[in-house]
Amino acid sequence: MVNRQVVLAAHPQGVPVASDFRLVEAAVPVAGPGQMVVRNLYLSLEAAIRGWLDGTANYFEPIVLGGAIRGPSIGRVESSRLAGFEPGDLIFGLHHWEDYSLSDANTVLLRKLTPNPLLPLSWYAGALGGSGQTAYVGLHRIGAIKPGDTVLVSAAAGATGSIACQIAAIEGCRVVGIVGADEKAEVVRETLGADTVINYRKEPDLAGALVRACPEGVNVYFDNVGGTTLDAALMAMAQGGRIVGCGMISDYNNAASPTPLYNLWQVVERQLSLQGFLLYSYLDEVPAASAALEAWLSAGRLTVLENVTEGLSAAGSAYSAMMAGTTIGKNIVCVDQT
Ligand SMILES: NC(=O)c1ccc[n+]([C@@H]2O[C@H](COP(=O)([O-])OP(=O)(O)OC[C@H]3O[C@@H](n4cnc5c(N)ncnc54)[C@H](OP(=O)(O)O)[C@@H]3O)[C@@H](O)[C@H]2O)c1
Repeated sequence: MVNRQVVLAAHPQGVPVASDFRLVEAAVPVAGPGQMVVRNLYLSLEAAIRGWLDGTANYFEPIVLGGAIRGPSIGRVESSRLAGFEPGDLIFGLHHWEDYSLSDANTVLLRKLTPNPLLPLSWYAGALGGSGQTAYVGLHRIGAIKPGDTVLVSAAAGATGSIACQIAAIEGCRVVGIVGADEKAEVVRETLGADTVINYRKEPDLAGALVRACPEGVNVYFDNVGGTTLDAALMAMAQGGRIVGCGMISDYNNAASPTPLYNLWQVVERQLSLQGFLLYSYLDEVPAASAALEAWLSAGRLTVLENVTEGLSAAGSAYSAMMAGTTIGKNIVCVDQT
């Protein structure tokens, strides 16, 4: 038995390409005291991983050249010397892109899954995993949405944005989405319940388009993108509006020269709050978020947009496509069971 791993072959220059990743073979790990071996089933592709590929630290250690790519996964416990975990248990945690991972009590985000058998397991890596939980916590805890609010969501067809749009719509908000393709706009409008959707690639004056789409002003901007999109959104905020800093993906592929913001004065003039958050700091809110998301999914009120790539060896190219912005919904790799 070998443990196939996807490792970092080169620091990406801009958008990652498939050759920045390489498949290698290593020994299958053996659980020591307090450890367990997990067979990875689904990898959750995350925008945040891009920040770990440049060789500089952010809120996590960088991934070194030749090191296995780190990311959340769903797995099944193969063998365990960790109290509370038995072979066969399904778990979620921050592992590596590999067949078998070593896990212990310090594994970030580690939790046992008790999936609803009526729902696909892969959903626990997306809508019922970090993406859905981030949308829920960001809108409620940071954005404090209430019925009647105008809620603007960027990267609205993505993993986090697609759930944010639907939660806001379910809770009686008027939803305006920002996307980068007409195909995405149609999905966000027709399937996710958005009132209006703007394709930023077709709007030379994005701020003007947002003001026209939100004549009363934006009460809550759920910002996945940062950069020029955030700059434009600042010009469309209502007095006292709230900006939820979820992510700034537009700068992840060019972290060395981030986009300048010109409209920050609007924070003062419009008395805005602008608060960033990381889901890792709100883990106490995850059970409530998961329960609400699962109830909506079971009732058919939430639609899951999922883009599943088959095979560990395709993880690098799948990630490249995601970071190029060509995909819709949650990007997941189904690890082939060799
Ligand atoms: N705070 C937290 O705890 C937390 C947790 C999870 C995720 N996040 C953040 O949430 C955001 C979305 O992440 P996700 O995992 O849900 O990814 P995602 O939205 O599924 O995929 C990325 C999408 O971002 C959009 N995008 C906008 N500008 C882009 C650019 N310049 N380059 C590439 N893509 C661009 C693309 O859609 P368009 O075609 O519409 O542009 C692309 O499809 C990220 O900023 C991420 O860091 C934060």
